[in-house]
Amino acid sequence: MTDLHVVILAAGKGTRMKSETPKVLHPLAGRPVIEHVLATVDHLETASTTLVVGHGAELVRAALANRPNLRYVVQSPQLGTGHALLQAEPILKDLKGDVLLLYADVPLLEPGTLLRLLETHRGTKAAMTVLTAELADPYGYGRIVRGADGRMERIIEERDASAEQRAIKEFNSGIYALSLRKLFNNLNDLATDNAQGEYYLTDLVAMYRQKKLRVESLCLDSADELRGVNSRQDLADLSLIVRQRKNRLLMVGGVTMEDPATTYIDADVTVGADTVLGPGVRLEGRTAIGERCRIHAGSRLTNVAVEDDVVVLDYSVIVDSRVGQGAQIGPMAHVRPQSVIGPAARVGNFVELKKTTLGKGSKASHLSYLGDAIVGEGVNIGAGTITCNYDGEKKHTTVIEDQVFIGSDSQLIAPVTIGKGAYVGAGSSITSDVPAGALAIARGKQVVKPEWATKRKASRPASKDGL
Ligand code: UD1
Ligand code: CA
Repeated sequence: MTDLHVVILAAGKGTRMKSETPKVLHPLAGRPVIEHVLATVDHLETASTTLVVGHGAELVRAALANRPNLRYVVQSPQLGTGHALLQAEPILKDLKGDVLLLYADVPLLEPGTLLRLLETHRGTKAAMTVLTAELADPYGYGRIVRGADGRMERIIEERDASAEQRAIKEFNSGIYALSLRKLFNNLNDLATDNAQGEYYLTDLVAMYRQKKLRVESLCLDSADELRGVNSRQDLADLSLIVRQRKNRLLMVGGVTMEDPATTYIDADVTVGADTVLGPGVRLEGRTAIGERCRIHAGSRLTNVAVEDDVVVLDYSVIVDSRVGQGAQIGPMAHVRPQSVIGPAARVGNFVELKKTTLGKGSKASHLSYLGDAIVGEGVNIGAGTITCNYDGEKKHTTVIEDQVFIGSDSQLIAPVTIGKGAYVGAGSSITSDVPAGALAIARGKQVVKPEWATKRKASRPASKDGL
């Protein structure tokens, strides 16, 4: 759709959040609240998107630095919604078409709803079209006052309303389509003769009616999409709705969830068909899971790319990493950022990886720490192996080439390289490079003193409790 200019109001303080963070930056299903609104706008064909910022303006800008096409206008002080839109005048005044006015704190709106609003607006050649819905008790919202002919006459704010008007169930969502023709002339004529002494955008309705300009409305069947984030309670309630929507979509796409109610999947996550997610699984950020995977109970994956047929056993944590096809991880593994787990590799219980590449088919099955390591293919890392990567000042790299066997309880003191096919004897502390094909043993030689223990026992009187 050309000549569609989106304006998003985001200047308000969000007092009820009781937060240092601007309310539109609070995460909702892994994205800042405002990113949900922007994602909806992404579905529309727009000529421009302008954000009206005020409180926390710099923080909001910084958080949206990844969207270079956004325009910003600053509203300071905040004198009401009419005043907020007026700030976009320098950007929009000479343009044709329509403005779609959105709130940055109303994140559940669907693109289809906005398209319907625009259809109504353009189809009727209205000057203003208001998105509305009904609630049994629309406390706090502006009410839609209609005349005997059913046409909207005005919007009256809660604080300015009579008891009779407060009984009206149809409320103003605050979302509008507005023709740009003379919009700013009219906005400049708004007055502040109301309970809050603000410039009410809602007063345009009565003004337009008086000027015989067409005002239309679209009344939604459900008010759910219009819900805003004003408090932490709202944040939790809306998170639940977003999460349920996401889970439903994934299940439609062929994902099994053993307990959807405890499965937390962020908005941007993808999961392939025939993957099974256990109870209490969290998939966060930009995580992408392949097909036929099994992610067992209580595991958390944040920004992880997982190929097909991967098994993650219970209570594993994987962050900012990649996992190759058919790999198996956990239970209780910790894979820290910048790790790459190759196809068919295994990372077993109580194994921690950090910035480590584990080649195809390599295994670290038990109780290990591998940090800053480059591990080739077909390597076997014995239980309790530790890369000593930190000397107190710097991190050093351990290189373990293909087909190496590291015996249990070895320490690899980096920087160090274990050459292709080499063996390291169990319990070794390896301080220098091991050539390919060699065996390195670096541990105290065993001393055996025959009868030593038996004699010692005989020379001491037995204690009362037999110890
Ligand atoms: C407004 C509407 C009301 C509607 C309600 C829906 C007016 C006068 N009233 O109420 O009819 O039912 O929204 O939620 O428009 N904002 C600014 N600058 C300002 C004031 C507000 O950017 O000076 C932004 C806020 O950040 C928020 C949005 O506008 O995103 C709505 O403001 P809020 O104060 O929540 O709405 P009301 O004015 O109470
Ligand atoms: Ca207000």
